[in-house]
Amino acid sequence: MQVSFDISGKTAVITGAGGVICSVLAKEMAKKGARVALLDLFLDAAEKVAEEIRGMGGDALAIKANVLDRTSLEEAHKLVLDHFGTVDILVNGAGGNKADATTSKDKIFFDLDPDALRWVFDLNVVGAVLTTQVFGKTLAKNKHGQVINIASMASFLPLTNTVAYSSAKAAVANFTQWMAVHFNLNYSTDIRVNAIAPGFLLTTQNQFLLTKPDGSATDRGKAVIAKTPMGRYGDPVELAGAVIWLCSPAASFVNGAVIPIDGGFSAYWGV
Ligand SMILES: NC(=O)c1ccc[n+]([C@@H]2O[C@H](COP(=O)([O-])OP(=O)(O)OC[C@H]3O[C@@H](n4cnc5c(N)ncnc54)[C@H](O)[C@@H]3O)[C@@H](O)[C@H]2O)c1
Repeated sequence: MQVSFDISGKTAVITGAGGVICSVLAKEMAKKGARVALLDLFLDAAEKVAEEIRGMGGDALAIKANVLDRTSLEEAHKLVLDHFGTVDILVNGAGGNKADATTSKDKIFFDLDPDALRWVFDLNVVGAVLTTQVFGKTLAKNKHGQVINIASMASFLPLTNTVAYSSAKAAVANFTQWMAVHFNLNYSTDIRVNAIAPGFLLTTQNQFLLTKPDGSATDRGKAVIAKTPMGRYGDPVELAGAVIWLCSPAASFVNGAVIPIDGGFSAYWGV
């Protein structure tokens, strides 16, 4: 058997595709010849990425979709099937945290808003489950495909402050394993479900935790860099290689795995 990292001609559905990480994943997957459906709550953000990809000669379709609304996902699924004919890859990229669900000096654990806690669980966990219910039907029907979830360092050990996000991302890792087994035992042994667990990237989602308004590092930012043996934040493009590998035949026996991409953060106690 020859090792192949080829994903060309595959149809990839990517949620949260207008965001920092998934816009980059979409572009890198398109550069490798994948046809990409870019789903986001904000159509203009997804459309901007789609235009860039089409400008590079790629095939991209932007679709407004809410990962928390099954009807919206069903409509998006239909549009993807009408345009591309099938689904080979699903990247569950929509996710995130919010300040109201995060403890701080001003916001103690005992006062955290239940709606904010629910928002974080819904977006990260329920969103991935609902999207896999809808698009996974095509994978089950084809008896072939890959799902990539986006976990976090917080999936392995909770991070301070981010109480809802940490438990939600632990659930994303658990769902990755559950879904891999469920597809294999019930539909096909040729469907794989894996996750990437990005380490620390400096993005809109965590900027309020890692940098002060003047751009200097917070104590948390300093602690992150000190505990990352590579001594720096990651760049979203550094996640793309692992995603392309996981979606390709080269990863044909990788299933139910959560791959850390973290500059060594999860390998280091700090001593
Ligand atoms: N940024 C990091 O350092 C980091 C680290 C680990 C994991 N992650 C995870 O990576 C994923 C992407 O993060 P990001 O930093 O690119 O975030 P981002 O906020 O830049 O992008 C998220 C995208 O999801 C979209 N979205 C939000 N709610 C949605 C909904 N209900 N339906 C459809 N789309 C919706 C947003 O419009 C946005 O375009 C998330 O799951 C995040 O938790 C991020």
